Amino acid sequence: MTSPDLPAELKAALDGKLRGFSRNDAAGRAASISKTYRDGGGSGAIRSEADALAYALARMPATYAAVTAGLNALVEIMPDLAPTSLLDVGAGPGTATWAAAETFPSLQRFTLLDANDALRALALGLVTDSFRLRDVSYERGEARAALTSADTADLVLASYMIGEIGEAEQRALAELMWQKTRDTLLVLEPGTPAGYARIIALRERLIALGAHVAAPCSHDGKCPLQPPDWCHFTQRLQRSRAHKQVKGAELPFEDERFAYVVLTRAAVVQRPSRVLAQPVVSKVEVTAKLCTTDGLAFRKVPRRAKADYASARRWRWGDAVN
Ligand SMILES: C[S@@+](CC[C@H](N)C(=O)[O-])C[C@H]1O[C@@H](n2cnc3c(N)ncnc32)[C@H](O)[C@@H]1O
Repeated sequence: MTSPDLPAELKAALDGKLRGFSRNDAAGRAASISKTYRDGGGSGAIRSEADALAYALARMPATYAAVTAGLNALVEIMPDLAPTSLLDVGAGPGTATWAAAETFPSLQRFTLLDANDALRALALGLVTDSFRLRDVSYERGEARAALTSADTADLVLASYMIGEIGEAEQRALAELMWQKTRDTLLVLEPGTPAGYARIIALRERLIALGAHVAAPCSHDGKCPLQPPDWCHFTQRLQRSRAHKQVKGAELPFEDERFAYVVLTRAAVVQRPSRVLAQPVVSKVEVTAKLCTTDGLAFRKVPRRAKADYASARRWRWGDAVN
């Protein structure tokens, strides 16, 4: 399993950029960018080098952790996967590319696409000293146009991106990303009901075009969850001192909530159940909410079933279990 915390090389690159940069200024910029997101705006608020760095300091650790969690879930289902090429759509500061490089030593060709000049410049600055990433190709442009002329890739990623475009555009982009996917597509969004709704719409559309779901679902059928319930997961990550300062936070960690889907061209052989919430453990039994091949299930594992109970006690929200 790849660690959810930023790799040392990326931390050092961010620290290098931070030298001579006021953390109060970064905190102010990060707060204003977050407010824009909360108010329904997008990355258009990130216009300068200072904005891009503030955004990266505040958000890169959490988006990196979430993408890593999605990729770890994929590796668990398809342990032999060894993609050699990557396409990162709406790559921003390159977060998902770093997570994929860390997860898959097999990756050799990295292509990133984004419309935001400041984030692109930061991404290129962060990879300068990285042996594996310094030769990335980073196309500047609107996603659909840039994707149209991009080569296909084994692995295509879109992390925290599709929520920034309109619904009709999301449909078109989903199909185009799938066209460019040779093996696997991972799309990840904030773990809100709206983020989940975007993931489910894309999932349904691409299943209709022949995609199979590798994670988190145990099946390619309709999602069994009914509103107000929604499928999402959480990933804990450590906060560095700079991260705490920029976020004005006290706690040494944060929990990032995310929704995701991994779609593959190959049929999925392993279909474990997925734990959809933190299980409740009592002295009598473990009760777990599961997505199974037969739909939603609330499984009770009694203490008297000693071995099963012992393993169910270790289940965590997001785990694949049998
Ligand atoms: C919230 S950021 C996420 C960045 C990165 N994927 C990550 O996880 O850290 C969304 C990114 O999508 C990009 N984006 C949004 N709409 C786009 C479009 N139509 N074409 C290209 N990039 C777009 C933004 O410029 C921004 O970099």
